[in-house]
Amino acid sequence: MRVLVTGGAGYVGSHTCLALLRGGHEVIVVDDLRNASIEALKRVQRLAGRALTFHQFDMRDGERLDKVFAEGPIDCAIHFAALKAVGESVEKPLEYYENNLLSTLTLCRSMLRFGVSRLIFSSSATVYAPLSPMPVDEDAPLGCANPYGWTKLMCEQILRDVAHANPSFSCVLLRYFNPIGADSSGEIGEDPNGVPNNLMPFITQVALEKFKQLQVYGDDYDTLDGTGVRDYIHVSDLARGHLAAMDYAMGHTGCVAINLGTGRGYSVLDIIQAFESVNGVQVPYVIGPRRPGDMAIVYANTQRARELLGWETELNIEDMCRDAWRWQKRNPAGYGDK
Ligand code: NAD
Ligand code: WQD
Repeated sequence: MRVLVTGGAGYVGSHTCLALLRGGHEVIVVDDLRNASIEALKRVQRLAGRALTFHQFDMRDGERLDKVFAEGPIDCAIHFAALKAVGESVEKPLEYYENNLLSTLTLCRSMLRFGVSRLIFSSSATVYAPLSPMPVDEDAPLGCANPYGWTKLMCEQILRDVAHANPSFSCVLLRYFNPIGADSSGEIGEDPNGVPNNLMPFITQVALEKFKQLQVYGDDYDTLDGTGVRDYIHVSDLARGHLAAMDYAMGHTGCVAINLGTGRGYSVLDIIQAFESVNGVQVPYVIGPRRPGDMAIVYANTQRARELLGWETELNIEDMCRDAWRWQKRNPAGYGDK
């Protein structure tokens, strides 16, 4: 298939481009590189032994996007391009709403103009209302605690409405849980700007001794060891999930939300322990206060992914910790050019 990948130079996007190229698909990436490096795409092509097409521009530029669609028929679009930092979204809500909503609207406009009807959308477990029972399934109540989450929920609603109004449209809303890890080559991985917000990139940078210690956000949650529990998923399993979703979209119309997680929860202390024992490195930590907005436990009900996509995860927490560290150790400055 000829696949348009927006935000394809980013963390999840680059791993998905690699899986697509390896799967024999033709890949066209649009990314303005605001949070990514061209080096990621160079490495993806080297690893796959195949080329992709790259366009650098802002997804909100509808004229340039139309030109990409005019170059040849697109079978499916995978829409990763978005801003994703929860804390930043609280400080700069308009930037988040403008970027994430307008990118999605612009993409839908071009798709409809050019008769492209299959769309895979990067949503998030963050769309589930706080206090949902775990494991959370796709029919649980929705609601968000920050502007980033609302952009995902609003985009989901836009896409449901577009699919409703266009009966040939096929849209899969993939609700990712916590993607971590890196391609097993150690050549591509997560490369956050500045101080990482998320657990695994912080751990790998503590292991590198860029930071003295990790701060564990609270040990008084109602969990086995008191620290927060999440459903961590290897980014390469997640990437494969997009290919399964594309196959599904080929044979179905309408709009469906699907969780992509492992269905298992690990605490912060579990992750530190797994990382230390798999990699033989120390991750010093201190217990700090809870981070505002954090939930105690989040993990996925994965039944729908198994039933509709025939997809389930293959890599375990040790693989995630090993691959995250291999990437970080080999690339202490990430891609180095952001
Ligand atoms: P990322 O920041 O690494 O990738 C996003 C890419 O989109 C970047 O390369 C960025 O340069 C590009 N981009 C952003 N706005 C753009 C615009 N207007 N025009 C063109 N390019 C633009 O993020 P990621 O971790 O790979 O996440 C990919 C998607 O998955 C995002 O939509 C994110 O919200 C969603 N998601 C991520 C996680 C996670 O923990 N990583 C979890 C759930 C959902
Ligand atoms: C995981 C656990 C923290 C950092 C976020 C977004 C979510 C989604 C994925 C995009 C929690 C704890 C963390 C640290 C810690 N992104 N932690 N010390 O918060 O589950 O999800 O990323 O859609 O929307 O909210 O991920 O990696 O930040 O935290 O103790 O320095 O690690 O409290 O329990 P989170 P995370």
